[in-house]
This record gives sequence, C-alpha cells and structure tokens, in this order.
Amino acid sequence: ELKNNTLIVVLGASGDLAKKKTYPALFGLYRMGFLPTGVKIVGYARTKMDNAEYHKRITSYIKNVDDDDGKAKLEEFKQLSTYVSGGYEDGESFDKLNQYLQELDGGFQGNERHRLFYLALPPSVFIPVAKNLKEHCYSKAGINRIIVEKPFGKDLESCRELLKSLKEHWTEDETFRIDHYLGKEMVKNLLVLRFANVAMGAAWDKNSISNVQITFKEPFGTEGRGGYFDEFGIIRDILQNHLMQVLSILTMERPVSFAAEDIRDEKVKVLRAIPPVEREDTLLGQYVAANGKPGYLDDDTVPHNSVCPTYAATTLWIHNPRWEGVPFILKAGKALNEAKVEIRIQFKDVTQGIFKDIARNELVLRIQPAEAMYLKLNTKTPGLYTRALPTEMDLTYKRRFTDVYIPEAYESLILDALKGDHSNFVRDDELDVAWKIFTPILHWIEGKNGSAPRPVGYPYGSRGPKELDAFIHKYGYRRSAEGYSWPVTNMS
Ligand code: BG6
Repeated sequence: ELKNNTLIVVLGASGDLAKKKTYPALFGLYRMGFLPTGVKIVGYARTKMDNAEYHKRITSYIKNVDDDDGKAKLEEFKQLSTYVSGGYEDGESFDKLNQYLQELDGGFQGNERHRLFYLALPPSVFIPVAKNLKEHCYSKAGINRIIVEKPFGKDLESCRELLKSLKEHWTEDETFRIDHYLGKEMVKNLLVLRFANVAMGAAWDKNSISNVQITFKEPFGTEGRGGYFDEFGIIRDILQNHLMQVLSILTMERPVSFAAEDIRDEKVKVLRAIPPVEREDTLLGQYVAANGKPGYLDDDTVPHNSVCPTYAATTLWIHNPRWEGVPFILKAGKALNEAKVEIRIQFKDVTQGIFKDIARNELVLRIQPAEAMYLKLNTKTPGLYTRALPTEMDLTYKRRFTDVYIPEAYESLILDALKGDHSNFVRDDELDVAWKIFTPILHWIEGKNGSAPRPVGYPYGSRGPKELDAFIHKYGYRRSAEGYSWPVTNMS
C-alpha cells in the first residue's frame, strides 16, 4: 500500500546512477500515477547547483516525453523535485537537510510523515550517510526506509562488516538492498513459470535437465569506468549478484507462499547447498583491442598490467536431491559481440533406439533485449515422409502481449520499496551465502594466496575467449543439431 505524505530523498543526486536510473524510474512512476499523492522528491549531493541545473541533469535521460501529456507531466515532476547540497560526513549538513525536509513536511495534511532515502552513492560514504540520516533526518512520525545499491563489500568479510555497520542504524525491515535484476520482468516471471505450470514443474530437475547456462553479454567495454571496474572485476560486477539472484530463483524449492520471507528463505536454502567455486570450474578472459576498439588495458584508468577479468565463466553445483550432478554455468562478459541476457536450460537426450542424433530440447528464457521464452522441440517434418525437425514453441512478448508496457527494473523496485514489499530485494543472509561461494575464487584471482592467474585474451566484439566452446562442452552442453536456427523474424 502506498503511503501519502512521503518524501523521497535521493542521496548522490548529481551522480551517474541517479541520472541514468533513479530519476527516470521516479519519473516513469510519477507519469503512470504510481507515486504517492503529494509526493516530493529531494536531491542531495556535494555538488553546488541551482534547481535549474539540477532539473537539467535529472531529466537528461528521461525519454518519450514529446507528446503534450508527457511534457506536462515532466513540468509537474520538475516542480516537485528540488535540490539541497551538502557534505556526506558531517552532521550539520544533515541538520540543514532535515530542516528543509521539515519545511516540505509542513505542506502535508494529517499527522504522518514518511521518508524514503535512496542511496545512489559510492561505497566509501555508505556508512557515514546511513548514520547521519538516522541521526539527523529520521522521521519520528512515520515510516523511514533506506534503499542501498551494490557493491555490498568486496568479499565475505568486507560484506559482513558493511552489513554490521548499516545495521547499527537501520533495521532489516527498513533496509531495501537493490539488485536490479530482481526487477526485470522475465526474472519475476520465473516463479509463475515454474510453480504455476505442472508441465514445467515436472521437468525441473536432474532427471530431465542436463545442464543450465545463465549468460550475460554486453557489447561495450569499461569505457570511462575502467578505474572503478578494475577494483571489482566481472565476477563481483555481475556473477556474484545478478546471475546468482537469477540462479537462486531458478533452482529454489517451491515457497510456502509469495510472502517475501518465504521466498527469500527458499533462495537462501538452495544457495547454501552450493559449495565455493573451484578453480578448474572457471574460465577467465580479458578483452584486447580489435576492430578499431581499444583493449581493456588501453583504458588510461586501468593499471597497465592488470589481470582483472572482464569475462568469466564459472560452473556451480547444487548438492541437493533435485540438482545433484547438474552443472550451472554462469557466464558474463564485457566487450562481446552482442547485448543479451538469457537462461538456457538444456534437457537430456531422449532415449535412443528409435531416433538417432536427435536434437535435445532446450528452454530459453531471454531476459533482454526483447523478452521471450521459447522451447526447442522436435516435430515431424510436415509431408509424406517421417523425419524429425527441430523447431520451437515461441512466446515472444512483443507479439503475444501487444500494447503492454513492460516496466523498467528500477520502476518496479522503487514501487515495491514505497509499498514496503521486500520480496524483490536482497536479504542479509542471501548476500552472506553468495559471497561464501565466490570469495575463495576471488582471492585466488587477486593473487592473495600466490600468483594471480592471467585471464586469456579475447578480441573486443567477439563471442568471448575461444576456450569457451570446449569449456561448456566439458559440462555436457551439446550444440543443436545441424540445420537448426532461430528464424530471424522472431527476433524483432
Ligand atoms: C550493473 C553493472 O550492475 O549492471 C554494470 O555494474 C552493467 O557493469 C549493468 O552494465 C547491466 O545492467 P542491465 O540492466 O543493463 O543489464
């Protein structure tokens, strides 16, 4: 339920995340009528700027406002968005912010005063800001919530420290840890696909499934973000959080209900059955210059001898009765040949005898771009002879759901936070288990216990390291039979 009398405060309002994601999502919600009545948005950051400059910044990534209604809504949105500048470390700045918030509160009817704090900040100031907000800007007459973004530490130990410090000021119930993959439509669809379909549920285990790949591909490198990225690498940037979230929902047992804690209990339970990633289940890559594009090491902000991986494939194993022996291959890379995020479930070979060399069933869930689900099936080639032909049952969202607006992940998540629904946010113990799985391999990659492994090079714009095919083959993945191709018309 949305609470009226709510102030939304965006800390780090002059930064990239706020500009690219937070404000466009807030505007999207406002435009669709999903923000609380009378809401006010306050930006806060160190940068000194007036409201005009602030409005220019926060609207620079807002799209599709060419029609009259869009323009009018954007004007209203600017009216309700104002800016305050101040430091992150000192209490006085937050006293000033609080005075301003109280002035805005004054315009509300009734006794309740709610505040949602969104921290779009670098990790170095998470803790002082969380503390200052609690001590100086906490509303005593309503609900206070705080949204925080990754990175949640760099390994198990630093994550635990961070969580502990935040908990000194904010309760678990008040805290909303974003992993924006949980806001994506196809990820949210997983629960329904699995638990609302007998046919799917029945095939969802080691008896039917041979192997699973969860793949993240981006067609651009770290351009401009190299300095930040080098400290983290692709495993922390994508695998440990986004792909693990997808994996846990894909593999967890049926929750007792859709309640947030029931869902998160099951996610944690399945993650706890995954041992730390082994070195031999890992393939690391780093992109090199190709096709006129710079290599990772050509980025001036990256140390010249960096061994930071920009590509990683790791295979995880789940030791429970449902999944024992099924490899889950998580792959992510920058500077590849395409933009795509998908889950590919490859089923086992059909019993041999009447068929030879017949293609395996595959269920592909395309998370982005262009949400789709398709199941590769063998069918008889139509005509006066009998031959099996790999084909597909296809649910392409754009075709099936015409005129439906698929929300941006951040729109969906900010709305959840305003309503107080934690289902699609990361609980503290989820983070803890996810870090346990990746910490040993991350320490090895960083050379903490000996010399650091050197990632293999792959050309900018390629499919990834050439070793990849052999890597996934090793875990039993079989390429589709000759002649199968996804018809191009379905891609649009
Ligand atoms: C972020 C990573 O969490 O996710 C980025 O830090 C990455 O490196 C981004 O580009 C990808 O998100 P999306 O929604 O574009 O798939």
